[in-house]
Parts: sequence; structure tokens; C-alpha cells
Amino acid sequence: MTVVPNRETFENFYSGKAPWDIGKPQPAFVAAAGKVSGSVLDAGCGTGENALFFAERGHKVTGIDFLAGPIELAKKKAAQRGISATFLVMDALQLDSLPQQFDNVIDCGLFHVFSDEDRERYVAGLATVIKPGGRIFLECFSDEEPGDAGPRRISQADLKSAFADGWTVESIQPVRIEVRPDLPPDMVLTPGGPKAWFAVIRRVI
Ligand SMILES: C[S@@+](CC[C@H](N)C(=O)[O-])C[C@H]1O[C@@H](n2cnc3c(N)ncnc32)[C@H](O)[C@@H]1O
Repeated sequence: MTVVPNRETFENFYSGKAPWDIGKPQPAFVAAAGKVSGSVLDAGCGTGENALFFAERGHKVTGIDFLAGPIELAKKKAAQRGISATFLVMDALQLDSLPQQFDNVIDCGLFHVFSDEDRERYVAGLATVIKPGGRIFLECFSDEEPGDAGPRRISQADLKSAFADGWTVESIQPVRIEVRPDLPPDMVLTPGGPKAWFAVIRRVI
């Protein structure tokens, strides 16, 4: 059965050890960094490690998350590390309320939390915040990850269908999501990190 996580699910994760909160950027984004130029919006940024990675490389970065706790932590990290980045408490299902557009959006683990209906709203919102010709770099759980612990599994076909109109799917690569070594015992995932897709998708109109 597909369980769609809500705000409370994420509050509970962050009150303990959120599996994805590894204290550094995800390897797939580090590997793709050379392809990213211009401004960056990190949608569902959590405590900000991916956003701070790109900000440290000189990108103008905004990170958004619907929870105040992780956003406060992200701001604290930026201040401690002397990195300039903007962090906002904001629902990623209301991207059309953002007053600016970005050259890139990064999404590390957000797309796969949405219901089918919210996925459509999210992609419609992305079209309003990504400049024409801009790209989304998206990492999500893969349908090749066995079991049903953790987020919804996403197939390559799901990605292509979600971004069918007004987008070009440039690449989808298999990657692994790095997770904390001290995962809760009920969270059984593939050793070496859950299997994921890393998609690069361009907005064409
Ligand atoms: C799997 S976590 C990934 C966090 C971060 N990207 C990372 O890699 O560490 C998903 C994040 O999305 C946030 N989130 C979930 N639904 C959201 C929504 N509708 N709007 C904004 N953030 C949301 C959660 O609070 C959580 O921080």
C-alpha cells in the first residue's frame, strides 16, 4: 500500500535521526555539480546540505521547506559556515507564489513524497519558477529498490509521464541515496543506500 507522508511524518523524522539527513550533500548532486550554472532553488531542502553545497560553489541559492525546524537549522549552518543562502519556510505545492524564477531547481527526495494529485500540482508549480531552458535535477526512490520501507517507488515511466508536457527528460541515471549509518531497525533498505533515479529535466516552454 502506498503511504503518502504528511507534515507530521516529517516532524517525527526530524525529532529523531532523519535517515536522509547525513550532514553533507548527496553524492549524486556533488557528481552533477559541473552541469549546474546560475541560480538554484532547492525544493524540500531539509536542513540545507545540498543548498549550502551549491551556495558554497558560488550559486545564488534559495532553499524552501514546509517545516520551520529544518529551515532554522539550515540558517544556523549557513551562518556558522559563513555561506550566503536564503532559506524560507514554504510549501513546495505553492511554488507559483515565489516572486522570482531560477535557472535550476534541485529536488533531493521531495518528488517521491507526493500523491499523484500533488505531483501534478508540484510539476505545474515548477514550470512557473524555472526559467525557460532551465533544468530540474531530481533524485527520487527507484522502483528497483525492493520492499516498501520508506518513500514511494518511482519508475522511469512515472518520471517521463510527470514531465511529458513542456519538458524534455535529458537523462535518468541509476544512483544510490546515501543514508545515515544508524538507521532505525524497521527501515530495511538495500545495503549501500536505497536505489534511486537521478533525472535531469529541461523546461522547454
Ligand atoms: C526526504 S526529505 C529530503 C530533505 C533534503 N532535500 C535532503 O536531501 O536532506 C524531504 C523534505 O521535503 C520536505 N517536504 C515535504 N513535503 C513538502 C512540501 N509540500 N513543501 C515543502 N517541503 C516539503 C520535508 O520536510 C523534508 O525536509
